[in-house]
Amino acid sequence: MYFERFQKDSAEVPGFVMPESIAVWDFFLAEQQGKRVAGALLEIGVYYGKSAIMLAMQARPEEELVLVDPTDFVDQAAITIGKFKSENVRIIKKKSSSHACWALTKDQKHSFRWIHIDGDHKAQTVENDLRLASQLLAEKGIICVDDSPSLGFLISRSTKQIFREPVTPLESARGGNNMSITAWMRIRIESFTSGFSHE
Ligand SMILES: C[S@@+](CC[C@H](N)C(=O)[O-])C[C@H]1O[C@@H](n2cnc3c(N)ncnc32)[C@H](O)[C@@H]1O
Repeated sequence: MYFERFQKDSAEVPGFVMPESIAVWDFFLAEQQGKRVAGALLEIGVYYGKSAIMLAMQARPEEELVLVDPTDFVDQAAITIGKFKSENVRIIKKKSSSHACWALTKDQKHSFRWIHIDGDHKAQTVENDLRLASQLLAEKGIICVDDSPSLGFLISRSTKQIFREPVTPLESARGGNNMSITAWMRIRIESFTSGFSHE
C-alpha cells in the first residue's frame, strides 16, 4: 500500500530497518485499516525516524503517533515525521522505563493498535518494554519486537510471563544481517483476517 512510497521518501533518512520488515508492516497495517481496527501507534527507539515514517504514513489523522527515544536523534526525527503526519504526533524524549511512558498506561490503557519495540536491546529494557506494551496493546493490536532472534529465549520467556492471555506469533522477517522483526497479536490470526494462513 505505502511500501514503494516509503522506499522513495525514506531513502535519505539514516536508520536500521530492513525493507522486508517494512513490507510486512505495510501488509498488517493495511489489514488493520481494512478491518477498521483503530488506535494509537507507539514506537520505542526512534533514532532518525526511519521506521516511524511507515507508521506516520499509515496512521489516520485522528490517531496518535507516540515516539519514545531519550536522545537528541528524536529532535531530527520529529522534523522528518512532521512531513508525513501533521497532527497528533507526540514525542517523549525519555527512556521507555520513564514515568512519562508508564503514565500512558493510565490514560491510554489498551488503546494502541501498533507497538514497535526497538530501543535499548538489553534484556532488562526489553522486559520493561514488553510489560509496558502488554498494558497498552488494544484488542487486535500488534506488537513488533526488533532483533528478536538474538533475544529469543528472553522473549519467549517474557511473553509467557507477561501476557496473561495467549498471544499469537504472527510473522518473522529476517534479513541478511540478522535483523528481524517479530510480531505478536493479542488475538488469534484466524479471527483477524480470513483467508490468510500463518502455518
Ligand atoms: C536501533 S535504534 C532504532 C532504529 C529506528 N527504529 C530506525 O527506524 O532506524 C535504537 C534507538 O533506541 C534508542 N534508545 C536507547 N535506549 C532507549 C530506551 N531506554 N528507551 C527508548 N529508546 C531508547 C536509541 O537512542 C536509538 O535511537
